[in-house]
Amino acid sequence: MMKIDERQKIIAISREGLRNSRLVQLGAKALDIVFKYAVASPLEDIVVLRTPKGDIVGFALISYAPGSFGRRLLCHGPFLACFVANIWRLRWGISSVKTPKMTMAPNIPEAIFICIDAPYRGKDWGGRLIGEIENVLKQNNVTNYFVKTEADNNQKVIDFYLKAGFKNIPTASASTNFFLYFIKNVH
Ligand SMILES: CC(C)(COP(=O)(O)OP(=O)(O)OC[C@H]1O[C@@H](n2cnc3c(N)ncnc32)[C@H](O)[C@@H]1OP(=O)(O)O)[C@@H](O)C(=O)NCCC(=O)NCCS
Repeated sequence: MMKIDERQKIIAISREGLRNSRLVQLGAKALDIVFKYAVASPLEDIVVLRTPKGDIVGFALISYAPGSFGRRLLCHGPFLACFVANIWRLRWGISSVKTPKMTMAPNIPEAIFICIDAPYRGKDWGGRLIGEIENVLKQNNVTNYFVKTEADNNQKVIDFYLKAGFKNIPTASASTNFFLYFIKNVH
């Protein structure tokens, strides 16, 4: 079980780095519930990256069943209550954009959150986090996984994924491409 102070740290990292995520927009309490849920869930993993001294540098949340992740969260009482109480925080401008369907098999794992704490960015920690994610995936006999990221004003993150060996994959509708999807084989 992840310690409370560790959860607080990854909540702080998420809130600074992933402001456009709807889960993050729901606030710290919702994130706390999400991370507790993910630690306990057999279908999710949280990968925490640390310095040799043990300081948390970044983290990733992996789902082995991303298609049902949102639905499972909403069926989880504490999250549902928090979602209802904090729904006003969501930025509907972003949420109203239709997410396109993937043309490739969606039933592969997704790294839902990938985030490096701001002071450590641009120093190759992100590449190391990808390596840690893939070690965990290999231990679970996963052969490929995907990430999604915003299409607009996001070239640095897109370059990061391309440099890490991901390939951009087409989506069903080019007119609703709020997100870009990237897939990578795990060897
Ligand atoms: C995206 C993120 C995980 C990358 O981690 P990072 O530690 O900054 O990246 P790295 O130092 O390992 O960089 C690897 C490569 O990514 C690209 N890159 C990453 N950050 C960059 C930046 N600020 N400017 C330009 N290129 C960048 C470069 O190609 C870089 O290669 P290089 O060092 O040879 O130039 C990190 O910046 C982050 O957490 N950002 C906020 C959260 C986020 O946007 N997550 C992705 C959501 S989908």
